[in-house]
Order: sequence, then structure tokens, then C-alpha cells
Amino acid sequence: MSMDANLVSALNAQIRGEFAASYVYLGMSAYFESLDLKGFAGWMRAQSQEEWAHGMRIFDHLAARDAPISLAELSSPTTDYYDPKSAVAAALAQEQDTTRDVNQLYAQAISCGDYQAKGLLDWFVNEQTEEEDSLRTLLSQLTIAGDSGAALLILDRELSERDASDDEPMG
Ligand SMILES: [Fe+2]
Ligand SMILES: [Fe+2]
Repeated sequence: MSMDANLVSALNAQIRGEFAASYVYLGMSAYFESLDLKGFAGWMRAQSQEEWAHGMRIFDHLAARDAPISLAELSSPTTDYYDPKSAVAAALAQEQDTTRDVNQLYAQAISCGDYQAKGLLDWFVNEQTEEEDSLRTLLSQLTIAGDSGAALLILDRELSERDASDDEPMG
């Protein structure tokens, strides 16, 4: 089935959104590198790579369906945050924005009767539940840690245990 032009442009906008999120997470990784919090830096770097893979899922879907792909410009992300907690709060807010965008895309795919795009987006809807959950958990842990450097270092060590094998190959 050939794709609705408005849906194609919304999916192209979401490719940009995923890559923009990837770039923002990379800026967060640079921030945590500057604090020598290697666990946080690595976790944010893994997030960045995941967002890149999300953009590619949409890219591949459009390519498979002979729909036009357009790649928009990305703005420069900050590498400077007030403190670890505000960086993680910004990450959660970004994921909440993404959830809203994905939900809109989902409704649009259904209203076009494009069940192939809906199939693609089912994965994104579920992914957003996980993403919001993991960032809310991390934010709560930072709230509990408060001003304790010791608690922050324990959390950093815990985060360093995340490795690529935790994620789906294309996650
Ligand atoms: Fe994503
Ligand atoms: Fe995400």
C-alpha cells in the first residue's frame, strides 16, 4: 500500500526527533564525563545509541515501502547541566515529549488505515513505557541520594553495570 503523504512527513519528523534525542543524550554523556561519573556517562551513551537505532527503524520502514526519506538538521545539544538530577529530569521530560509524539503518530497511522505503520509504531509505544519507567526510577534514586556523594557514587557504579547485551540488538 502506498503511504499517505502526511503520515510520511510525520514519520520523517520522528526520524529527526529520535536523532535529536540521540544527540541530547550524547550531550548528557559528555556532561557526566566532565564529572568523572563514568557509570552515568556510559548509561547516557547507551541511551544515545538506542535513540539512533530508533531513528533507523523508521528509516528502514520508509525505505522498505518506497516512501521518501528526508533528513532534517539537528541543533547543538547542551553539555552543561546544573547537577546530575537536573540532567536526568531533562531526560525524563524529553521521553515524555517523545511519548506524546509517538501517540500522535499512532493515531495518525490508524486514521489513515495504515496498519503496516501501526505495526511499526506498536514497538515504539511499548518502548516509551520502558523508557519513562527507567528514567523515573533513576530520578527517584537521585532524589533519595540527595546531597550524599557516597550515594551518588554507589548509583554510578550500579549504572556502569549496564552493557549493550541488556538491550535488544536494534533496541
Ligand atoms: Fe526513541
Ligand atoms: Fe528514548
